[in-house]
Amino acid sequence: MTTHMKAAVYRRYGPPSVITLQDLPRPVVGPNDVLIRVRAATVTSADWRIRSLSMPYGFATAGRLAFGVSAPRQPILGSELAGDIVKIGTAVRKFAVGDAVVAFTGAKLGAHAEYCRVSADAVIVHKPSALSYEMAAALPFGGTTALDFFRRGALRAGDRVLINGASGTVGSAMVQLAAQAGAEVSAVCSSANAEAMQRLGATHVIDYTRADFASGGRQYDMIVDTVGNAPYARVRAVLAARGRLLLVLATLPEMLRSPWVNIRSQHRVVAGPTSERVDDLQTLVDLAADGRFTPLIDSRFPFDAIAAAHARVDTGRKRGSVLITVSS
Ligand SMILES: NC(=O)c1ccc[n+]([C@@H]2O[C@H](COP(=O)([O-])OP(=O)(O)OC[C@H]3O[C@@H](n4cnc5c(N)ncnc54)[C@H](OP(=O)(O)O)[C@@H]3O)[C@@H](O)[C@H]2O)c1
Repeated sequence: MTTHMKAAVYRRYGPPSVITLQDLPRPVVGPNDVLIRVRAATVTSADWRIRSLSMPYGFATAGRLAFGVSAPRQPILGSELAGDIVKIGTAVRKFAVGDAVVAFTGAKLGAHAEYCRVSADAVIVHKPSALSYEMAAALPFGGTTALDFFRRGALRAGDRVLINGASGTVGSAMVQLAAQAGAEVSAVCSSANAEAMQRLGATHVIDYTRADFASGGRQYDMIVDTVGNAPYARVRAVLAARGRLLLVLATLPEMLRSPWVNIRSQHRVVAGPTSERVDDLQTLVDLAADGRFTPLIDSRFPFDAIAAAHARVDTGRKRGSVLITVSS
C-alpha cells in the first residue's frame, strides 16, 4: 500500500516558481481526524499573500511570526478543498469513509495535496451530490468571509451596499449574498466585469477607471472594501447616517483607528480577520446545492500546472476563484 502523495510544496517565500510538485508522506490521522482524498481545491489571494509574504501594510512581522520567520513552517498552501474521506480516526462519529466533503482549513492550509488531514471538529461538512467537487471547493474562502463580515456589519434588507472590488472571490460572494438578503447592491469593478456583476445581482455598476464612487452624490448604508483603497477618510462623505464600513482588507493603522471612528462618529468601521465557522460553511453548501449561490469561477488548472494558477492569482485581476483539479 502506498503511503505517499503528490503535494505542491514551497520551502522559501517568493514568486509562483517557488512552488514545485513533490512526493511527501501522507498525513497521519489522529483519533479525531479524517483524511480526505482531495478532488478540487483553489489558489486564493491568501495563498499569494502567504507564499510571497505580501502582507497588508503593518502586518509584515505578524505574517512571518504566523507562517514561519525565515522559511514557511507549513510547506503546503491551499485553504479550501472538496474530496472524499478515505480514512477516519477512532473517535470520529460525524463522518465515515466514502463521504464526500468540503472543508476550509484556513490558516492551517495543506489543501494543495492529493491528501489532506482535517479535524472532524473543524470547518468541514458533507458535500451534497447536487454540488460538483469544483463548485464546493470554491465556497469557503469568499463565502465565509462574506457571511462573517455581513454579520459583524449587521446587513439588513433594504440597505444600500457598495462593494469595492466586487469581481474578486470575496467581492463576488458578497454581491450575491447581499442581493439575496434584499440589499440594493452597487458593484465597483472594471467595465470588463460589469455584466458578470449584474448577473450576480448588482443593481448599479461603477467602473473605477472612469468614476470615483467616493465623490459621487449617492449615499450608502454599507461600504465594503476588498481592495484596500477605500479607508474611512476617503468614504465617510458617502456613508449614510449609521453607515458601516467593512474593511475586508485593512492596513494596521486603519485597524487601530477603527475603534476611534466607532466612538467619535455616527459610523462604524468593521475590520480584522474572518472567523471561520462550520455553520457558515453549511449555509453556503445549502445555498449552493439549490442554486441560490454559485461561486464565480475565473479559471481552472490541472494540479501539475499549479504554479501557473498562482501566477494568475498574483495578477490581482482574477474574476472569482482559480480552481485546481487535484484528482478525478
Ligand atoms: N479580513 C479577512 O479575513 C480576509 C479574508 C479574505 C480575504 N481578505 C483580503 O481581501 C482581499 C480580496 O480578496 P479576494 O480573494 O477577493 O481578491 P481577488 O479575488 O484577488 O481580487 C481580484 C479582483 O480585484 C479587482 N480589483 C483590482 N483592483 C481594483 C480596484 N482598484 N478597484 C476595484 N476592483 C479592483 C479585480 O477586478 P478588475 O480586474 O476589474 O480590476 C479582480 O476581479 C485580499 O487582499 C485578501 O487578502 C481578507
